[in-house]
Amino acid sequence: MKLQERVFSGMQPTGSLHLGNYLGAMVQWIEMQKTHACIYCVVDLHAITVWQDPKELRDAIRQVTAAYIASGLDPKKSILFNQSQVSAHAELAWIFNCVARLGWLNRMTQFKEKAGKDREAASVGLYAYPNLMAADILAYRATHVPVGEDQKQHLELARDIAQKFNNDFRAQIEALGHADGEFFPQPDPVIMGPATRVMSLRDGTKKMSKSDPSDLSRINLTDDADTIARKIQKAKTDPEPLPSEIAGLAGRPEADNLVGIYAALAGKTKEAALAEFGGQQFSSFKKALAELAVARLAPLGDEIRRMTGDPVEIDRVLADGSARAREIATPIMNEVKDIVGLIRS
Ligand code: TYM
Repeated sequence: MKLQERVFSGMQPTGSLHLGNYLGAMVQWIEMQKTHACIYCVVDLHAITVWQDPKELRDAIRQVTAAYIASGLDPKKSILFNQSQVSAHAELAWIFNCVARLGWLNRMTQFKEKAGKDREAASVGLYAYPNLMAADILAYRATHVPVGEDQKQHLELARDIAQKFNNDFRAQIEALGHADGEFFPQPDPVIMGPATRVMSLRDGTKKMSKSDPSDLSRINLTDDADTIARKIQKAKTDPEPLPSEIAGLAGRPEADNLVGIYAALAGKTKEAALAEFGGQQFSSFKKALAELAVARLAPLGDEIRRMTGDPVEIDRVLADGSARAREIATPIMNEVKDIVGLIRS
């Protein structure tokens, strides 16, 4: 049986989304809708691996859903839902907890970063987080996963889990009629565009992130026009004019980051952006960047605010998407149970 191409990706509803989420992943999600069957998820079970205030979590799930739609995700064409409404994610994650090895999880750099110094106090969920992520993807036997660069290691783990499951249960998988023994595909990361790792506006060596205490470090998708322009004005730079070629960005992380952001927003390559601004001072480049960012992002913020004013409609979209997601995941989960040797009714 030839596995059908299918796209899956997700974002955590922890605070509002930022420019890194948008350029690193969302822009690719929207593009892939044109060519693929896509499933986009608000990964609320991942969010609770660290403490979340329940009311804020509910609001964030709705806000992220609104951000997906405002960015161009079409919930009629693609499947849009929140993870906890489809039980296959948690069920398959448990099975993967029993497939993945401790040694594999011990290598995950994100756990080390998020758990910090006091690892003993981190939740078990935070540690097992990548197994749930593998389950998200493989519950739909998805083949393509558009993400930012920071998710690469988790994707490699998902591939290892798929392969080990296929190997461990080869006989049962073949007995079910999967002649090539490949029940789960090896999901491919899709890491594309000039901004796969957007950095902090205050420090070009740190990733733009929701958890940075400085709001000036990131542009939130809910920021208004003035805030976006001000954050770009205040972004850290260096004293040199912009180079005309990529090689000239080496050792200049802030310049590299702003050029990447400009290129991604303009739908150009970094080379093309440098051909336009090479030799110019940051002041004129920042002016152009602020204009472009405001034109692209301010309408998103307005639309997110409008949509979150109608939570009933958002919940309806999520319920509809969850039902469609369940239709795909349930038969796959049934096969998984048969393969593993569980009894189901
Ligand atoms: P999360 O919620 O941290 O981020 C969502 C997406 O945004 C990308 N991203 C960035 N890209 C470029 N520059 C940045 N500074 C930046 N910050 C974030 C992330 O790479 C991601 O694509 N574990 C995932 C969520 C997840 C998932 C999945 C993704 C759960 N299950 C299944 C794909 C498939 C995460 O925490 O992403």
